[in-house]
Amino acid sequence: MFLKRKSQQLLFLFLFFVLLFSQNKVGCVCTDPENSNNLEEFFTCIFENYGSEGDRSEFDLPEDQISSWQQVVEDMIKTEIECKSIDLRTLAETTNFKIEEHHGFCILYDTLLESGLSSFVVRKNGTRAVILSAPHPRFDYKTCIQAASIMDIFPAQMLIIAGSRRDTCLNASTCQSNYYVADRAHNTLGDYYGAIEIVKEIFSENNLPELSQIDFHGMSTTTCNGTDVLLSEGIKVEPQDDSLLMKIKESLQEQTSWSIHNYGEQHECDLYGTTNVMGRLYNGVNSNEVCGTFADESYGRFVHIEQKYFIRTDRDTDAFYKNAFLNAFESDSCLPTRELINDKCVIKSDPDPDPDPDPHTESSSLLVSFSQIIFFLQIIFFVLFKR
Ligand SMILES: *[C@@H]1O[C@H](CO)[C@@H](O)[C@H](O)[C@H]1NC(C)=O
Ligand SMILES: *[C@@H]1O[C@H](CO)[C@@H](O)[C@H](O)[C@H]1NC(C)=O
Ligand SMILES: *[C@@H]1O[C@H](CO)[C@@H](O)[C@H](O)[C@H]1NC(C)=O
Repeated sequence: MFLKRKSQQLLFLFLFFVLLFSQNKVGCVCTDPENSNNLEEFFTCIFENYGSEGDRSEFDLPEDQISSWQQVVEDMIKTEIECKSIDLRTLAETTNFKIEEHHGFCILYDTLLESGLSSFVVRKNGTRAVILSAPHPRFDYKTCIQAASIMDIFPAQMLIIAGSRRDTCLNASTCQSNYYVADRAHNTLGDYYGAIEIVKEIFSENNLPELSQIDFHGMSTTTCNGTDVLLSEGIKVEPQDDSLLMKIKESLQEQTSWSIHNYGEQHECDLYGTTNVMGRLYNGVNSNEVCGTFADESYGRFVHIEQKYFIRTDRDTDAFYKNAFLNAFESDSCLPTRELINDKCVIKSDPDPDPDPDPHTESSSLLVSFSQIIFFLQIIFFVLFKR
C-alpha cells in the first residue's frame, strides 16, 4: 500500500513536469494559427507577454543580426514564395523567430514571446502603401491591439509592433539620452528601426508608390486637456489642406464627437512626435542623423496619432479609423510581386520561381498535440488513482 502511494506520487510529479516543460516549449497556444481568427487575437496573446518596467538588461537582436533580420523583411515584401519557406536560418541561432501564413498575412514573430523582439506583418494583397506601427505597444496601453485590429480591416500592406516595452530596460538610449534604450520611437538600434529603414529603401528603389506610416500612440488622461486625439506629421508645421492628416481628421470628425486637433490650432497639447526617429526619417532627415536632427519640413507621409485612453482601448473605434484611412489613401498600389487588376492586388503573371522549401520550421503543431496527450493522460491517471 505504502509503495503504491509513493509510486503514484512520483508518477504525478513526473507527469506534472513533463506537462510544464512541453507547454513552455509551445509558448502561448493562441499564437497557433488555428487558435486565433485574426491579427487582433494573435497580438492579444503576445501583448500579455511584454514583461514589466525595468525587468531586462537585454531585449534586442545583436547588432550583427540586424542585416539578417532586414533580409527576412525584404524577402517577405519582395517574394511570392510561401511565407514559411522564407529562410530564417541566419536568425535562428540566437532567436526563436518563426514566420507563418495566417488569413492572408505573413507574420514574422519570435515564439519566445517575452524575448522583446519586434513582430512584422505583410499583407501580400494589400492595396494601400501604408505601414501601421505601434512602437509603444504596452506602455501606450492597447495601441498594439489597436494597430493589429485595424490591420485586420484596413488593407494596409504592412504592420510593425515593437516587442519591448519602452521602459523594459532603464538604460538611457544612446540615440536620445532623454529616453530609455528600449523606446523604439527614440532609438535607431535594433529590429524595429531596422525594419522601417529597409522597408523605406525597398519602396524607393523599386519605384513603388510613396510609403506612408501611421504611428499609434497614447497620451495620459491628465495631459492635453480638451484634446482627445492629436494628429501630427512628426513636426510642428501646419498640415496642408489636402494632406493625409487632414483627410484622416475630416473623416474622423464626421464620424465621431471626439475633440481632434493638429498643429496651428488653439489647444493645450504639445505632443507632435518631433523627436520620433521614424517621423524624422519620413520628413527627409538622413538615417544616420535622425537621433539628433529635427526635420525642417514635412513630407506629409508620417502620421502620428496621440490618443486618450477611451479611444485606443475601445475596439468599436477601429471602424472609424478604417473609414478615415480609406478616405485618405488611394487604392492604386501593390507590393512588387503583385499588380492591380479590378482593384485587387493579384500575383503578376510572371512570378519568381519557387526556391527549395525550407524544412526546419515544422514542429510546433506536433508539440501542441504532445502536450495535449500528456494532459489527458494526467486526467486519466488522476481519476484512476483517486479511487
Ligand atoms: C544596460 O546596462 C547594463 C549595465 O551597464 C549592461 O550590462 C546592459 O548590457 C545594458 N543593456 C542595454 C540594452 O543597453
Ligand atoms: C486578400 O486576401 C485575403 C485572404 O487571402 C482575402 O480575404 C481578401 O479579400 C483579399 N483582399 C483583397 C483586396 O484582394
Ligand atoms: C480643462 O478644460 C476645461 C474647459 O475646456 C476646464 O473647465 C478645466 O478646468 C480644464 N482642466 C484643467 C485641469 O486644466
